[in-house]
Amino acid sequence: MTLTERELVRWGQLVGKEVDVPMFLGLRGQLGAGKSVLARAIARGAGVEGAMPSPTFNLLFRYPAGEGVEVVHMDLYRLREPDELWELGWEELGTGPEIVLVEWPERAGEHLPGDRWDIHLVAPEPGSSLRIVQVHRVGSPPHLPGFPVRLETRVP
Ligand SMILES: Nc1ncnc2c1ncn2[C@@H]1O[C@H](COP(=O)(O)OP(=O)(O)OP(=O)(O)O)[C@@H](O)[C@H]1O
Ligand SMILES: [Mg+2]
Repeated sequence: MTLTERELVRWGQLVGKEVDVPMFLGLRGQLGAGKSVLARAIARGAGVEGAMPSPTFNLLFRYPAGEGVEVVHMDLYRLREPDELWELGWEELGTGPEIVLVEWPERAGEHLPGDRWDIHLVAPEPGSSLRIVQVHRVGSPPHLPGFPVRLETRVP
């Protein structure tokens, strides 16, 4: 599936609106792939309001969403070693009513939860405004809404 930014955002908002919790999503892809774009769209869809700064240095930000749900946005790019995860409360993550969105999940190595979706974003070529979206189910996570994505015809 290849999506424009607008389509990726639309899908993300649908995911945020309709997912069951707890939900753990690993957002993979190179620098600038669109992981934060997708994370923000999912959070918006879940009802998060206001700015969502990049968790690049804090590694984790937590936002209230609708109906007692919380969105946890993480960026593990600067994680030095998986042991640092415990200080972030990693063990508790995704056990309550949370949508956990983790950029650079590969940094967590073997500590990733067994039930999750991994979403891989890849630009077909440098500078492209499209992203190839690959979705992998690991274990038995809740249903991922809207995938394969069904979107209206592109607005020219
Ligand atoms: N189809 C697309 N989907 C998502 N983003 C796109 C698309 N086309 C272009 N872009 C642009 O690519 C950039 C993606 O930036 P973003 O911060 O989301 O990347 P990232 O994967 O989070 O990178 P990092 O690893 O640095 O956190 C944005 O500037 C966005 O406008
Ligand atoms: Mg990012």
